[in-house]
Amino acid sequence: MALLIKNGLIVEHDGRRKADIYCENETVTRIGENLDAPAGTKVIDAGDKYVFPGFIDPHVHIHLPFMGTFAKDNHDTGSKAALMGGTTMFIEMCCPNRGMDMLEGYEEWKSLAAGKASCDYAFHMAVAKWEDKTADQLDKVLADGTTSFKIFLAYKDFFGVYDDELFNVLTYAGKHGVTVAAHTENADLVSLMQQRLLAEGKTGSEWHEPSRPDFVEAAGVNHFATFLKLTGARGYVVHLSNAKALEAAITARKQGVQLGVEAVIPHLILDKSYAERPNFEGAKYVMSPPLRTTADRQALWSGLKSGLVDTVATDHAPFDFVEQKTMGKDDFTKIPNGIPAIEDRINLLYTYGVSRGDLSLERFVEVGSTNAAKWFGLYPQKGALRVGSDADIVVYDPKAKGTFSVKTQSMNIDYNGFEGMDRDGKPDVVTVRGNVQVENGEFVGKTGIGSFVTRSLAK
Ligand code: URP
Ligand code: ZN
Ligand code: ZN
Repeated sequence: MALLIKNGLIVEHDGRRKADIYCENETVTRIGENLDAPAGTKVIDAGDKYVFPGFIDPHVHIHLPFMGTFAKDNHDTGSKAALMGGTTMFIEMCCPNRGMDMLEGYEEWKSLAAGKASCDYAFHMAVAKWEDKTADQLDKVLADGTTSFKIFLAYKDFFGVYDDELFNVLTYAGKHGVTVAAHTENADLVSLMQQRLLAEGKTGSEWHEPSRPDFVEAAGVNHFATFLKLTGARGYVVHLSNAKALEAAITARKQGVQLGVEAVIPHLILDKSYAERPNFEGAKYVMSPPLRTTADRQALWSGLKSGLVDTVATDHAPFDFVEQKTMGKDDFTKIPNGIPAIEDRINLLYTYGVSRGDLSLERFVEVGSTNAAKWFGLYPQKGALRVGSDADIVVYDPKAKGTFSVKTQSMNIDYNGFEGMDRDGKPDVVTVRGNVQVENGEFVGKTGIGSFVTRSLAK
C-alpha cells in the first residue's frame, strides 16, 4: 500500500526541511510540499512531529548462547522491541563460538531470524578461530552479503582469538575491504584480575569494573590498532567505554589507521555506581566493558558531539535478573554480561542527548542511523530519506513524555536498566519498507516481514 506522511519536519544527518514524503513499493518515491496521493493511500499527519530515517542499531545480540545460558529475546520479541523504540534495522553479532563450525553457525543464525524478525536485519560475522578452511568460509559469507566481521580479544577460548588468528582475520579483511568490529578488552589480564579479586574474597558485582580497568581496554584498542596498521584493514571498536580508550582510538587515527568508534547507550546514561548497588541489584548492570565513571560518560558525550564517536548502539544482551543474573550470586565472574536496551536506545539518546543535552537533531540522526549505514555498507538505502531510499521512517513525537519501565516495555526481560528515568519523546509511527509496523506507539504491523539485508563493502 502507498503511504503519504504529511506536514512533518524531515530531519536527516545533513539538514532539515518541512515537507511531505510519499512511499510506494517499499521505497521513498517523492519528497516535497503539498504532495497529493491516489485514492487508497494511507495518509499519516506528522504535524508537530519529526520525521526521521529509520534508526539502525549496529550492535545487538539476539541469539546468544553465552556464559552458560541464552540471552532472553528471540528474533520475534527483539525485533518488535526494536521497532517500538524506532529501530527499523539491527546488525546482530552472529557469534558461533570457538567449538563450532563458523559457517554452520552463520546458517543457524540466519535461519533463526528468517520469517521471525519484524524489522530488517543483517549480521556481523564473528570469527572465533582461524583454520585452514576459514578463508574459504569467509568468501562464502561475503558472497552472501555479510560484509563485516567481529572479533573478540576478550572471552578467551570461547569467542576470543589469539594474536596469530587476529592477524589472519585482519589480513583477509584488509585484502577484501571488510570492516572488522572488535571487543578489545584483553582476555588474559581480565581473567588474571578476576582470579586475584576472587582469591581476596571480593565476589560481589561491584568488583566487576575493577577486574577490567579502563586502561586495559585502552591497551586493547592500541593492540587492535597496531594489527590494523600492519594489515591495512578497517576497524571499528565496539562499546568503547572510557576516556583512555577513546584517547587510544584518536591516537591510532592520527597514525592513519581507519578506526570507527561505537558508544553504547548504557555507557552514556549509567555509571559504575549502578553496578555497586547492594543486595545483588548491581548484577542488573554488569556488562563488559563495565559501566565506568561519570567523567568517562562525559568524555563519550563530548566525543559524540565533536564527531570523535561515530555511532550509538546498544549491545543489547538481555538476561533475566531472577533466573539468570543470579547465576553469579556468589561470584561476579558468573553473572551473565549484558544490559538490555534495544527498545530504549533512541528515546534515551533523544531525551538525554537532544532534549536535555546539546546534541543537534541532525547529529542525533547521524549517530543513531546514518553513520551505521555508512560504516556498514547500507547508505543511502538506509540511514537516509532520499528518493530511492528504503521507506524506513520514524514519525517521532517530542511531546510524548513518560518514563522507562519494565512495566511498559516489549523487551522479553524481567527488569529495565533505566527504570524510572524520564523520557521526553517517543516514536508514534514506525515503518519498515513502507509497512506501518508501529502506530500510535503500538505494534500494529506484520510479524516476520523483516528482511535479511545484503550489504556492499563500505566505502
Ligand atoms: O556485556 C556484554 N557486552 N555482553 C554481550 C557480549 C559482548 O561482549 O558484546
Ligand atoms: Zn563485547
Ligand atoms: Zn556485544
